[in-house]
Amino acid sequence: MSRDSGESRLIIRGGGRLSGKIVVSGAKNSALKLMAASLLAPGVSVLHNVPDIQDVQTMRELLEHLGAVVDFADATMTVDTAAVQSHVAPYELVQRMRASIQIMGPLVARFGRARVAMPGGCNLGPRKIDIHLRGLAGMGGEIRSGHGFVEVKADKLRGIDMFLEYPSVGATENLLMAAVLAEGTTTLENAAREPEIVDLCKFLVSMGADIEGAGTSTVRITGVRELHPAEHTVLGDRIEAGTFLIAGAVTGGDVEVVGISPHVLDLFLFKLRAMGVHVQENTRSIRAVGDPAAFTAVDIATLPYPGFPTDLQAQMMVPLSLASGVSLVTENVFEKRFGFVDELVRLGAEIRVDGNHAVIIGGRTLTGAIVRCPDLRAGAALALAGLAAEGFTELRDVLHVDRGYERFEEKLQMLGAEAERTGAEPLSCASD
Ligand code: UD1
Repeated sequence: MSRDSGESRLIIRGGGRLSGKIVVSGAKNSALKLMAASLLAPGVSVLHNVPDIQDVQTMRELLEHLGAVVDFADATMTVDTAAVQSHVAPYELVQRMRASIQIMGPLVARFGRARVAMPGGCNLGPRKIDIHLRGLAGMGGEIRSGHGFVEVKADKLRGIDMFLEYPSVGATENLLMAAVLAEGTTTLENAAREPEIVDLCKFLVSMGADIEGAGTSTVRITGVRELHPAEHTVLGDRIEAGTFLIAGAVTGGDVEVVGISPHVLDLFLFKLRAMGVHVQENTRSIRAVGDPAAFTAVDIATLPYPGFPTDLQAQMMVPLSLASGVSLVTENVFEKRFGFVDELVRLGAEIRVDGNHAVIIGGRTLTGAIVRCPDLRAGAALALAGLAAEGFTELRDVLHVDRGYERFEEKLQMLGAEAERTGAEPLSCASD
């Protein structure tokens, strides 16, 4: 996949009703970790249903930088890690994608050494890695930092009992990947329970790992001497599914997302229903039919899984802006995840932010405008707002959306949206 730079823009003509079916892509947040996990065994691992998105390309670059040979076509990726030699994740890649730090656990486990640029701040606020490092240190890793890098060294990691002070997704995954080759048993308590972690554990088990309790808050890993390459199919992307369900609902449409178990979106679907969206759950698909005129306000508080996903918070602000009544959204996972609110306000939303709370005064009519995507999920939310708005909306910096959504506008077009990518000068975006 190649996209041009930040010049890329998405022009959306709002007001049309979206209807039809889309097949969700493989989950970004699983695929990236599975790619990192392939480093744990020498040889060729095969991953199916890998989304062709920018973050996957960045992880591919990182694996290649380490010496892996990667082939990626038609959603299938092969990663040959036999020739991996380097143990360094350079600043250029980590700064582009924080998930680069997920190579730390696998590299220390297999090669005894990892040197990773410190991720630093990002537009979701400071994102620390203290839990990752505390776990690796507890397992016997010698941690050094300086010159913007953190380095972990260990001849042999050993199992530990660890209580995570916060169920961090990334820390749970890094420690899992470190523990599978450690000496003895590791118990992670208050571990994250995201479906993507279960997917990672399935892959690790198919590589020969011994893991109990995946998807619960106590995960027990008994280290094995070595792992072998394996083949795995990435689970569907629940955040993409949620985004397209909202797209249908806010346009008064009828959208079905296929390739996802409704169970992984339980609380999100509960909130959609509470708002007045008609939701139908099938074994491997979800259908939502909405009428914004009938939406009512609901309160939302983001929490680690199975709580309401922070990655759907921004998108949810759009139907709440249309709903009658006042909603309260509380962001508990990331410090600065309301950075997009000013852009949504430019489209006509009425939102007041105080710390980690946002009060949304609903019943607004949105009107198209030029807006800038500050990050991945906020970009998707602004596209949804554009679909619900009168007239044209121009999304700038749409490359943020490409980090996590595969063929975003193509899928919207399949549902009947008028959405065009352009790298050229903007169209006139005044509302018609
Ligand atoms: C992952 C997801 C991201 C999602 C998030 C929460 C990937 C690539 N990204 O991010 O899409 O929004 O989970 O569901 O899978 N924290 C610490 N110390 C640590 C680690 C984390 O304080 O050592 C804090 C972070 O600053 C943040 C919170 O914990 O405020 C959540 O972070 P975490 O669960 O680790 O999310 P990520 O793995 O970064």
